[in-house]
Amino acid sequence: PAPGWRIDADVVVVGSGVAGLTAALRCAAAGLDTVVVTKARLDDGSTRWAQGGIAAALGEGDSPGQHLDDTLVAGAGLCDEEAVRLLVTEGPAAVRRLISTGAQFDTDATTGRIELTREGGHHRRRIAHAGGDATGAEISRALVEAVRDGRTSVRTVENALVLDLLRTPDGAAAGVTLHVMGEGQHDGVGAVHAPAVVLATGGMGQVFSATTNPPVSTGDGVALALRAGAEVSDLEFVQFHPTVLYLGPDAEGQQPLISEAVRGEGAHLVDAGGVRFMTGRHELGELAPRDVVAKGIMRRAAEQGAEPGTEHMFLDARHFGAAMWESRFPTILDACRGHGIDPVTQLVPVAPAAHYASGGVRTDLHGRTTVPGLYACGEVACTGVHGANRLASNSLLEGLVFAERIAETVAAAADGSARDGAADGRPLPAESPGATGHLPVTPLLLPEARRVIQRVMTAGAGVLRSEVSLTEAAAQLDAVADEAAGKPAAPGVESWETANLHLVARVLVAAALRRHETRGCHWREDHPGRDDASWARHLVVELREGGR
Ligand code: SIN
Repeated sequence: PAPGWRIDADVVVVGSGVAGLTAALRCAAAGLDTVVVTKARLDDGSTRWAQGGIAAALGEGDSPGQHLDDTLVAGAGLCDEEAVRLLVTEGPAAVRRLISTGAQFDTDATTGRIELTREGGHHRRRIAHAGGDATGAEISRALVEAVRDGRTSVRTVENALVLDLLRTPDGAAAGVTLHVMGEGQHDGVGAVHAPAVVLATGGMGQVFSATTNPPVSTGDGVALALRAGAEVSDLEFVQFHPTVLYLGPDAEGQQPLISEAVRGEGAHLVDAGGVRFMTGRHELGELAPRDVVAKGIMRRAAEQGAEPGTEHMFLDARHFGAAMWESRFPTILDACRGHGIDPVTQLVPVAPAAHYASGGVRTDLHGRTTVPGLYACGEVACTGVHGANRLASNSLLEGLVFAERIAETVAAAADGSARDGAADGRPLPAESPGATGHLPVTPLLLPEARRVIQRVMTAGAGVLRSEVSLTEAAAQLDAVADEAAGKPAAPGVESWETANLHLVARVLVAAALRRHETRGCHWREDHPGRDDASWARHLVVELREGGR
């Protein structure tokens, strides 16, 4: 639809989690006229749901090198080591700048130092947290406050669903079109024109039936990037968090997370008979990388004859006692009690659920995508730091570090000290793409199609995948598109979101079908081993209109 209103700026940031707001604050501090557009309210994204914390080598005896080693192991051979090196070396200072912006982390009462916890895959206590288990909420509060309190001149438009990228005649980004609901002068379809567009739209967890992600995580940024012809990589690597409160086989939508930090502080993972089944499966036991723990839960459930869809195990943290539960994990305690389970006296039923997209819009080390002027950071991006499986609590850190790198690059491009696309002469990642795909553009879909897509994806492309399950999922997704082709839905937030979910689901399934191995969080029942000879490479998709 033709835009009805217009804003002009130097940079438009799409999304308002840790990555989006950090990019916006740093761009504004560099003197750029900065606009943030966000789909709901400023604090409605995934960031505020983050529990465990933010990983950085801040502790005594820890070092960026050790953080790098743990990240590479979790990434199962597909991390870009240079990107990880930047993440872990720039991370500690980025966390300190976040503290200067106003975020308050939990500190030790005696020493005054930041308290650090452990999570899966970390060999050290390295995770800073806030409010016990409400780290994301505190980070979000601090960043939203910094944007709102007039310290900088960031302009914001809320309730703004991003539609598509605007382009210059030579193909560079020139802004975005948006659909805004209920924002006065910016109501309806409009556009923000800017020579730099930063995608920070978060993840795509809503593509599955059960997820830890909030309802806004519908893959809008990846879908926009695909439609704009940007390269998207590693979509098959969806991380399933192993310990999400199990609310029965029919549970749908956002589910309560039980942070890995609960295991980091000593909770045990047990089967219905009380047996600790992770001991002996991995040197880190219950604190193995989360793909290993998710598989451990599914395997144990299968050994015990669980029906598909009912696989779950239990967390035992009764030995924490009431005082520790209340002070260290108040959010989780409330969530469990709200569902009738008291972790102080009872086992907590847990199961894996979709949690994080390790892949996304492919970027270089400055957050530049393959479309000039289009940048990506946070969960929507594939910077190379996560490889086949993100290390716990690296995502908030990635959002911070790469948002800051983008702000520097955009500012340099704006003042003419660097041409966009060649800020330091480094080209986009050197490794050659493993595959380029052609996929059809999805028509606008009725909101009812969302549940169909979610069920298809959970059944066919969930924790455990095979040629048969993925082929069936692909066929069902095609059927959804075919049915809509004759009668596309009317334009609106829900139909656009559903079309975005469908598009990213199709690309994800295509990539998962193609990867004939098990690696990181991509688990193929029919290809159970990791195959470095054929598959130590990325699957890159670039959508070309009209293909099928
Ligand atoms: C958690 O608290 O377990 C989640 C942390 C993360 O996803 O990195």
